[in-house]
Amino acid sequence: MKNRLSIASAVAATLLLGSVILTPLAHTSAAAPDAPYHPIPPGFDFPADQQTLLNMRDHQDVAGMRKHAWMVFAGMTQPVDAGGEPVWETWYAPEDVFTAPATGAQLQGLHRRRLRFEVLHQLQRRGARPQALGANLASFTLFNGDTRDWVQKNALYSTSALDTLNNGFTSSGTPVAQREIKEFPNKAMSLKAVWLVVKSPQNSPQMTGVPVWDPPQNVPVPDTASHPMQTWSRFVAVDASGNPVPPGTKATANFVVAHPNSPVVSINRFYSIKLTDPAVVQALHGMITIVNARSAAVGDYVVLLGLHYTTKEIPQWVWSTFWWHDRPNDPPFGADRPSAVKGVWQNYRMTTTYGMDTPKEKDGSPPIAFNPYIEAGLTPDRFGSGIQANCMSCHQQAVHPSDLSFTLRRGTIDPADPTFQKKTKTDFAWSIPQNEQ
Ligand code: HEC
Repeated sequence: MKNRLSIASAVAATLLLGSVILTPLAHTSAAAPDAPYHPIPPGFDFPADQQTLLNMRDHQDVAGMRKHAWMVFAGMTQPVDAGGEPVWETWYAPEDVFTAPATGAQLQGLHRRRLRFEVLHQLQRRGARPQALGANLASFTLFNGDTRDWVQKNALYSTSALDTLNNGFTSSGTPVAQREIKEFPNKAMSLKAVWLVVKSPQNSPQMTGVPVWDPPQNVPVPDTASHPMQTWSRFVAVDASGNPVPPGTKATANFVVAHPNSPVVSINRFYSIKLTDPAVVQALHGMITIVNARSAAVGDYVVLLGLHYTTKEIPQWVWSTFWWHDRPNDPPFGADRPSAVKGVWQNYRMTTTYGMDTPKEKDGSPPIAFNPYIEAGLTPDRFGSGIQANCMSCHQQAVHPSDLSFTLRRGTIDPADPTFQKKTKTDFAWSIPQNEQ
């Protein structure tokens, strides 16, 4: 055990120091490994007019809210070259954002495609039961240029600068409600992507399984259960050969355990990247809680299962999330998708939230918004479980000094709540306490 841990930490150290570079996509092999930064191009309703978005929220125009969320998705998934690398993949990694601004030669090193996987931190809440081994996904966060510039201009990467701000609030007797950083500009945007390692047929005769989220019925409120992926009721097996899959084909789907007689789907129905760099594969070997990471090999794939984004188009940000489904068009989460969403990106469902209190759920309670691959496995607390949480209500709890003891509540938390005493609210950005140094 000791031995394994020290190997894991050696790999973690390599991860921190080295820049792990993922080579181009399997099915989009013309993509340049060093595509320069691309913002969302014009024509995708980004950034939208703030009042228009708030009106949609306040008039319960769910279809309008969804249409906008899909349009931003269409913009961020536009290909940046003939190879099909999406706009969002050219964005900045935390180490390019949470650091003093780069100059001269250092700038040359930016804009490289440096997708570094991490264990999904969100599940590692203080005091929460650790997730069962083998039930986690690889993840990373990325930030657009407007977010990066704001973080750097305001030294939001610096623990000592944030301490100075926080201590200043205390010494000047600032009311708790006003203990907050200056708000980000309206074009700021960030994202979190989660991935599953899928075996290639060259490396394994077994097909990798993908859990499919079909919402459980009659869940009590508050929900006292956790819903980690390995407990879901349905799995599909991924054929990574790229060959057409005849309808009705069945195989064993391997996800933690074997799920015999599962429907087979082609890997072409996922956004995927082929693992070609041994350093990336080696780094995965150290991430022992990630499904399939220990057995990852060059030639295998990572497929995108979930994607979160948030934009500062409204004061409390727009929160949208996308997840893979074998029937992606079913309502309510497959509805309203405009034709501007192209190709492989049509395989994802979506939910969005513009507010902590409205539009209400059918039972009159505050709105729910979650991604099954990211939040369903969270440990429930007295307010409910991850499948009854709201992005914004959890992100409202982001503070410096870092405190990960968030609750899964829905609805607005009073900005003067005692939980914010002696803290500075970081404008909903968990990424600040997570990455400051
Ligand atoms: C239970 C609390 C919780 C919920 C619910 C939650 N998040 Fe997060 N989120 C976090 C934490 C903690 C981080 C930072 C650690 C990490 O990157 O995993 C984070 C990181 C992020 C990031 C990276 C940028 C940043 O500033 O933090 C984005 C984007 C994001 N979440 C979007 C969403 C969206 C969209 C939803 C709803 C579908 C959501 N989150 C629900 C806790 C939560």
